[in-house]
Amino acid sequence: MSLKEIVGQRFQAEFGADPASIVRAPGRVNLIGEHTDYNDGFVFPMAIERATFIALRPRADNKVVAISLDMDNRRAFALDDLQRPTETEWIDYLIGVAWSLQERGYDLRGWEGVVSGDVPIGSGLSSSAALELATARAFYEVSGFAWDAAAMALACQAAENEWLGVKCGIMDQMISAAGVADRALLIDCRSLETASAPLPPDTVVVILDTNTRRGLVDSAYNERREQCEAAARHFGVSALRDVAGETFARREQELAPLMRARARHVISENERTLRARDAMNAGDAVTLGQLMIASHISLRDDFAVSSPALDAIVACANAQDSCYGARMTGAGFGGCAVALVKADQVEQFVARVGACYQDATENESIITVTGASRGAETVFP
Ligand code: GLA
Repeated sequence: MSLKEIVGQRFQAEFGADPASIVRAPGRVNLIGEHTDYNDGFVFPMAIERATFIALRPRADNKVVAISLDMDNRRAFALDDLQRPTETEWIDYLIGVAWSLQERGYDLRGWEGVVSGDVPIGSGLSSSAALELATARAFYEVSGFAWDAAAMALACQAAENEWLGVKCGIMDQMISAAGVADRALLIDCRSLETASAPLPPDTVVVILDTNTRRGLVDSAYNERREQCEAAARHFGVSALRDVAGETFARREQELAPLMRARARHVISENERTLRARDAMNAGDAVTLGQLMIASHISLRDDFAVSSPALDAIVACANAQDSCYGARMTGAGFGGCAVALVKADQVEQFVARVGACYQDATENESIITVTGASRGAETVFP
């Protein structure tokens, strides 16, 4: 049974009627453009097939009543009495989105529904953004406001930043809101303009989950952000997006070594991401793969956000003739890598990388081939 059917049937069982609507919002994998979003730069993710679904119907009062199939519990809150989280649980994402939309002037109505998702939690595929955007879409269904993908992404990012206290950039929410089927999406994280591009012919995207999660990701992430902001201040600009490669080459010695390395990653990654767009539009898998390999090296050596497990799985992937290029994806320190692979050799690739990674780390990976899906949407009726 599909997730859509599962939430629909459970809704029936819980509420004794068919849902008025079923919405979904996807997780994401980023092909290139890492740690650039909070520098006002460019990212190139795609929405994946794994997603959060909500089956729902409006309520006459201003309450939200939601059942999580994954957490196996039921929670409720009133739209005029939103409680700040003490220990974050899944319902706080819904409350945060409600808070953020109301802060922005949206007039919200209550609803009741069933929530379930198959984006693995904590593996770097943005299960939080999927839950946030599915929630926004649920409110859209019952409240009757206009759907604007960028506005919804910003509202959900604010929920995460200001309600849940996680300082993420805009990438995850934006791709979950605005993903395009069968295409990756170049996002300008300053203007929020997007341009989609197809994957090169006869290639597939493979997600390589190292099955490792490292603590302290949040503090390391915030530290990187501060280092980038300090480097931007040094150059007298509001974000590293505004430092051209030539300017940096001329002036990099002015920066202390650590800050120089951090800035070098961001500035070169923005260039690689724009070149990746050109490669994708030209159907050039070889160049795209090389840019991904260079991105990993930069994230590992200059930005220092990789991990031994990520380096191991990327090395295993890049050793395969069937692989154009692989790199870590997402915030780093564990979680997933992404590879661009020849479609007709993908089964062999999956088997070989799994074995290679197990030999190298004595750990089991989770490897999945994924297509690109649409962003947040209503799938029923
Ligand atoms: C996390 C954040 C994103 C982005 C990436 C790194 O996924 O949520 O905003 O900064 O890390 O590219």
